[in-house]
Amino acid sequence: MRIGIDEMAFATTPFYFEMDDLAAARGEDPNKYKIGIGQDRQAVVPPTQDIVTLGAQAAVKLSATALKRVSTLIVATESGIDHSKASGIYIKHLLGLNDYIRVVETKEACYSATAALQFARGIVALNPQEVVLIIAADIARYGLNTPGEVTQGAGAVAMLISADPHVLAVEPVSVPYTQDLMDFWRPLYAENAHVDGKYSNQVYVDFFLKTYHRYQQITGRTLADFAALIFHLPYTKMGKKGLEGLLGDDHSNIAQRLRSNLQAEQTLSRQVGNLYTGSLYLGLLSLLQNGDVQPGERIGLFSYGSGAEGEFYSGILQPGYRDRIGEDQLTALTGRQRVSIEEYERLFNGQLGMSAADIEFDVSNDPSPFVLTGQKNFKRLYRIQ
Ligand code: CAA
Repeated sequence: MRIGIDEMAFATTPFYFEMDDLAAARGEDPNKYKIGIGQDRQAVVPPTQDIVTLGAQAAVKLSATALKRVSTLIVATESGIDHSKASGIYIKHLLGLNDYIRVVETKEACYSATAALQFARGIVALNPQEVVLIIAADIARYGLNTPGEVTQGAGAVAMLISADPHVLAVEPVSVPYTQDLMDFWRPLYAENAHVDGKYSNQVYVDFFLKTYHRYQQITGRTLADFAALIFHLPYTKMGKKGLEGLLGDDHSNIAQRLRSNLQAEQTLSRQVGNLYTGSLYLGLLSLLQNGDVQPGERIGLFSYGSGAEGEFYSGILQPGYRDRIGEDQLTALTGRQRVSIEEYERLFNGQLGMSAADIEFDVSNDPSPFVLTGQKNFKRLYRIQ
């Protein structure tokens, strides 16, 4: 039985800043951010958005008939809003999903949407009529004036996992790899991530090469068997470091096609920044909308989460995938509003974070369909607009 991604959608915040503006404010050469890091713009998060509103915004773009069939909802995130209650239960309410549903949250840094996808394959294999909704939603925060600031971002990707999928049939062989190490982490008391940036880059490439080579040993496949290799993109240059670590001096047609499809993968990430759990899957959407790939061809996916865990797996692109990946995302992103660095800093510092206080947010500037209106008696309050 073929099992995999049947439909995909993406949502981000209504605001962004230009990297040129951040470079000017931080006294850096803009080329460091735009070429050295590989980012052009970054999503800016108003206090009225969190993983619940972003996740609901992505999922509501999926077809209504498919959402009615969802039997399990898994939210993959490292930006959780409660140590106990799963954020997906708020999303389930906002989307009006059936009460006869199981809802949970998964966590392992940026990797856990891939874990959710593998768990979903198991659920569907046992009960082929089941449809699993995975929402990968995050807000990447390193702090103002930190080296990681240029690699922040926010957004959510929603995916339906089912039998006979229309986008990507996931193949059986996958190679996970885990080691206990400290490249990036966020203790329960911290609103921003702690990171050993250079070390995290090394671990990422090391885990990619280890999982890819093991996959190659198991399957006997070579680069010629892939139309594209796509990567978790904490920033777009990271994917390049991964791919070049494998290709080296190879400038054959096969290698050049992989390089060109990596650029297609990077297109959307350049506009929003790091989505943490959603980044790899935003990359898949970006490849499918901007790349040179055909139904029947194989795509290799490298998922990475700090701490650290990586997984390399593959899938076969399905006929008709174009009808199941939603609107043209690049066009959709042109509707966002540009904000100044002063405004970004104000919004960054205005997020609810760890505050337990009652608060009411001004939602008049947020045109999103779902908003966080505030907090009362320790409970977050959401509104459908
Ligand atoms: N023109 C062109 N390029 C320039 C330049 C200029 N004027 N100035 C600098 N550069 C280049 C540098 O040569 C460097 O390129 P290489 O990496 O290819 O050597 C690049 O720009 C970045 O410069 P620095 O290394 O000096 O940058 P930095 O020290 O300020 O920090 C960073 C970069 C480590 C990525 C930092 O932004 C960071 O810590 N980010 C968060 C951690 C992260 O994203 N890690 C990725 C792996 S972990 C992961 O994937 C999980 C996750 O999502 C967090």
